[in-house]
Amino acid sequence: MPTMQPFSIHTLELGPMENFVYLIHDHATNRAAVVDPAWDVPEVLALAEKHGMQITDILLTHSHHDHINGISEVLDRHDAQLHLMKSEARFWDACLDMPTLHHGGDTISLGETSIKTLLTPGHTPGSACYHVGNDLIAGDTLFVFGCGRCDLRGGDPEQMYVTLKNMVDRLPAGTLVRPGHNYAGKTTVTMEEQLEGNPFLHFDNSDDFTHYRMHYHDKHRESPYAPVRKGEEMK
Ligand SMILES: [Fe+2]
Repeated sequence: MPTMQPFSIHTLELGPMENFVYLIHDHATNRAAVVDPAWDVPEVLALAEKHGMQITDILLTHSHHDHINGISEVLDRHDAQLHLMKSEARFWDACLDMPTLHHGGDTISLGETSIKTLLTPGHTPGSACYHVGNDLIAGDTLFVFGCGRCDLRGGDPEQMYVTLKNMVDRLPAGTLVRPGHNYAGKTTVTMEEQLEGNPFLHFDNSDDFTHYRMHYHDKHRESPYAPVRKGEEMK
């Protein structure tokens, strides 16, 4: 069925940690934003070239190495503007050359495509998601039937609980979630499917969520992640 949206999203699975790297392609201008460039930049650039895209922007969901290790290689070839959250830049403390810093709720214009930024702390203090059309590029905040770890430096399970609650409350049920890793062997699910099968969205208080995130999940769940019915998180 023909789509009326002004953009398309191309997905690449790259590197030893099953990272997803995304290219958002604005059809009117052929501008492209690469989200979390890492691991195999030649493959990213080849895909852009194949579709006639010019990479003008780099969007970061967060500053972990597996999401950023291709930035300089992209910048060697393209004069692209780097975007990230102000709180992530502060946390990262890297020497960034004139990035555009966002606060969450503001919009990035890519030709005729508008990309809304969401500040989603929990995995890191300045983690971001990018909402474009019906798609949510979610980084390590929300996986298919999982969520990001909160035990690394800068992680905070209580913040993650609030972040996920806000996402459930504010995102339409049909939103397609596009995560930062392929932990479920599945590229995307809707928010509605997440509500059904993602155990991290089943808790109604921060303490239970924190216990599950910090002490239970990684010891008891197998990867790839299968959906979990509500009430069966600890089974
Ligand atoms: Fe991460």
